[in-house]
Amino acid sequence: MNISKVGVVGSGIMGSGIAEVAMISGFEVVLRSRRQESAVSMVGAIERSLAKRVERQKMTAEDARDALARLLATTDIDELGDCDLVIESVVEDLEVKRHLFEHLDRIVKPHAILATNTSTLPVVDMAMATKRPDSVCGIHFFNPAVAMTLVEVVRPLTASEDTIQAALNFAKVCGKEPVLVKDEAGFVVNALLFPYLNNAVRLYERGVATAIEIDKSMKLGCGFPMGPLALLDLVGLDTSIAILDALYKEFGDPGSLAAPTLRRMVAAGHLGKKSRHGFYDYH
Ligand SMILES: NC(=O)c1ccc[n+]([C@@H]2O[C@H](COP(=O)([O-])OP(=O)(O)OC[C@H]3O[C@@H](n4cnc5c(N)ncnc54)[C@H](O)[C@@H]3O)[C@@H](O)[C@H]2O)c1
Repeated sequence: MNISKVGVVGSGIMGSGIAEVAMISGFEVVLRSRRQESAVSMVGAIERSLAKRVERQKMTAEDARDALARLLATTDIDELGDCDLVIESVVEDLEVKRHLFEHLDRIVKPHAILATNTSTLPVVDMAMATKRPDSVCGIHFFNPAVAMTLVEVVRPLTASEDTIQAALNFAKVCGKEPVLVKDEAGFVVNALLFPYLNNAVRLYERGVATAIEIDKSMKLGCGFPMGPLALLDLVGLDTSIAILDALYKEFGDPGSLAAPTLRRMVAAGHLGKKSRHGFYDYH
């Protein structure tokens, strides 16, 4: 299966990161946003990120120009029609993703792979919304997509071996280390990570320590690169609740029952870094 043109749907934190990874790895990329202003702002963000790579001598100015020339940012979903692989990275909501898969199935050429960047949701439910369930899988990047090396390739019961091999190969061409995982909520990383992050919020709720001290404790005590509350801010508190809800729904483990403070913060619009307010303020 030859992949040369990659579509990315959703221009949030992860969509733009995945688009950038694919561009710098030599793929032609179509990045689809619902709104023109998001498309324009994503191109700006990618330009700034590439400029930083040039500054840090991670790529030449010429390679950065070539990468940008491979990007088409559009609001027109039909532009994804001739992509060989489309990765959706829209909001973590199963109904939204199922509708999107059903739509993509109608407009993207036959035999192209349709993939999801979901953190926790059942990939098989998205596959079954299409008439090509054998060509659907999960390709789960980590945040920030450009910096993190792991990709979980998720195999739903319906996926063909060709689809899985093509997804593994795509991740490798992107310079990533793929692991193949079963289609089970949270896969490997989030199934282990999120109960821990949720417990950090409970400590914070009980006033065991301040946010700064909780994060400092895990950095200095466990050698983690960042503390749990700063990590929740980076992931996005709305996305974090969606991940916890999916884990709780699948396993019924009380450790995944989202801490009330998380829900209150999201209700207040405090989504973490992306809204500039979370456990910390960002200016
Ligand atoms: N944030 C992370 O650390 C992280 C890491 C890996 C995977 N993911 C997954 O990536 C996906 C996107 O997460 P994100 O962090 O980029 O979220 P985000 O909130 O930054 O972006 C969400 C995107 O979805 C779009 N969207 C919202 N409602 C929509 C709708 N009804 N129809 C179509 N598009 C809609 C938004 O316009 C935006 O472009 C989710 O499935 C999430 O689980 C997130």
